[in-house]
Order: sequence, then C-alpha cells, then structure tokens
Amino acid sequence: MLIKNKSNILSSEITDRSVYEARRQFMKAAVAGSAGLAMPNLVKAEAKKYANVPIGSHSLPLEVNKEEDATSYTNYYEFSTNKWDSTRLAKTLKTSPWSVTIEGEVEKPGVFNLEDILKNQPLQERIYRFRCVEAWSMVVPWIGFPLADLIKRFQPTSKAKFVEFTTLLNPEVMIGQRSQVLDWPYVEGLRIDEATHPLALIAVGMYDDVLPNQNGAPLRLVVPWKYGFKSIKAIVKMRFMETMPETSWHKSAPNEYGFYANVNPEVSHPRWSQSRERVLGASIWTPKRATDKFNGYGEQVASLYAGMDLSRNF
Ligand code: MTE
Repeated sequence: MLIKNKSNILSSEITDRSVYEARRQFMKAAVAGSAGLAMPNLVKAEAKKYANVPIGSHSLPLEVNKEEDATSYTNYYEFSTNKWDSTRLAKTLKTSPWSVTIEGEVEKPGVFNLEDILKNQPLQERIYRFRCVEAWSMVVPWIGFPLADLIKRFQPTSKAKFVEFTTLLNPEVMIGQRSQVLDWPYVEGLRIDEATHPLALIAVGMYDDVLPNQNGAPLRLVVPWKYGFKSIKAIVKMRFMETMPETSWHKSAPNEYGFYANVNPEVSHPRWSQSRERVLGASIWTPKRATDKFNGYGEQVASLYAGMDLSRNF
C-alpha cells in the first residue's frame, strides 16, 4: 500500500482531479463491460452492486486502503469491544427490511423505509480519509450521498439546531448490548450546519459494493473531519432538536470524548497523544503519519468553528 504523508491533503498535490476521475471512470467502465473466464477478478468486480457509481466532486484522489483493512478491523461495540469479534458477529444482523424514523423539529416527520430513502437518490463514490480517536487511520472509498440531501426532504423547522442519530437496539442479536459498556442504544449528534455541510455523507456502500454489516449496514454516517466515533452505524432514527443531544461516548466519559470530536493533533486525548496516527495496513517499520487538523479537511470546514476554542470544545 502506498502511504501518502502530506501535511495538507487539500492542496493540489497528486494527480489532477479531472485526469484522476477520467481514469477511475474508465477503469470502472472497463470492469463493468468486461466478461470472460480469463479475467476472474474483473468478473468478480462486475458483480459488485455499485461498480458503476460515479465519483463525487468531494472525493480525494488518494490511494485507498485494501478492502480487507477496512472490513476486518471494525469498531462495533453493539457486537463486541474486540475488533475481530465485532466483524464476525455483525454478520448475524438482518439489515432488511429497514426503516428510519424522522422526528422532532421537522415539517415532514415519519417512518421511511430504506427503499424509499434510496429511491431516486443519486449515489456517488467519495474517497475519504478516516481517522479513529484511537489514533489509527485509513482511506476508504465510500458509496453514498450527502446527508444534506436527506435532511432537506424532511424540512427542518427554524428551531432545528442539532440532529441526533440513533443506532438499532436489539440485544438478542447485538449481543454486546447485553453488557453496559455504553448506555445503549448508540447515539451521536451533529450541529445542523455540520450535518448539512457537503462533506457529511450517508454511506450505503464501500469498495463498489453494499456496506458490509460490520461497517454499519444498511446505512451509516461518515463525517470525515471528525473522529470515527461520530460516524454512527446502522441508523434507525434521526431527531431534529433545538438543544445539543447527549451522545453515547460523551455520556460515558465526558472528559475524554467531546460532542465536537473534530480531528485535532493539537489536543491530546487524556490518555494518549493525537499528533500521529498508525495507518492501517502499513508495515510496522513505516513511521506513523502526522495527523492533520480536521483530518485534512480544514479548508472546507474550519469556518464552521470560527471563534470557538477547540481545546475546550473538543
Ligand atoms: N457506530 C455504532 N453504532 N457502534 C459503534 O461501536 N463505533 C464507532 C463508529 N460508529 C461504532 C459506531 C467508532 S469508535 C469508529 S472508529 C467507527 O465507527 C469505525 O468504523 P469502521 O468499523 O467502519 O471502521
């Protein structure tokens, strides 16, 4: 795996975007159009549900991690606090039928099934860097659509200042919920301007295919400038609120996990530094990567926090 060690991934390093996108689209088209026993890998790729999804404008032309890095080392405490066990146990979750309840400060509340949410919703690929609060990172090609598109449909009222997201509660299957590592169900939240920022994504797939259960099927949030715990999996409810929601990790350890959780190398976790990150899949001799403020997305998102003290509002 080629690891890029850039201090700011947004300046125009790398391949010119248009060249890169043209190349990716060509490769995708070639994969979709190919057949024949001589090319087993390509034939396999053809079976991937989202192989023809176009690349979105906010995607970064970074070298992505191997799929296996992202799908076999997962944080999903509803199943287990052990990464490999959560990967394995999450496969037992039934993700269809699935619905999402919309409530609170919106003109159009209701219960929407996943098919209706996805009907007429164009999807795109977004290659994002993903940084966990545990100081590891990866680059993932997500398939999804802007959270802003979804929010617009429910017509938030002027009182909607925050959005709270909730994961499924089902201790029969999600056996990690039988122990009180967190106060279940898992809850996360964003300020409304964060939630409607063009980078905030609802993901339904990755690596050209549907999301594997362990990565949050059937739909999850991806907020690339924040620590990974904000990117809540298996969403069943969104509540629009006037006040800041209480979130699971903040509730469990308020001095360690803030509501904002913006990636910030200058603010250490009380138990470890956040200045560097281990890149999944890199060899043990590869030096750790220097963590970028806002995970490298500062050009786009820093203005959301103008005037805020980010060491207090961590
Ligand atoms: N969402 C739920 N419902 N439960 C979880 O345990 N873990 C979070 C986040 N979303 C988690 C969750 C954490 S700590 C991280 S780092 C990311 O999911 C990991 O996403 P991944 O397993 O797809 O890499």
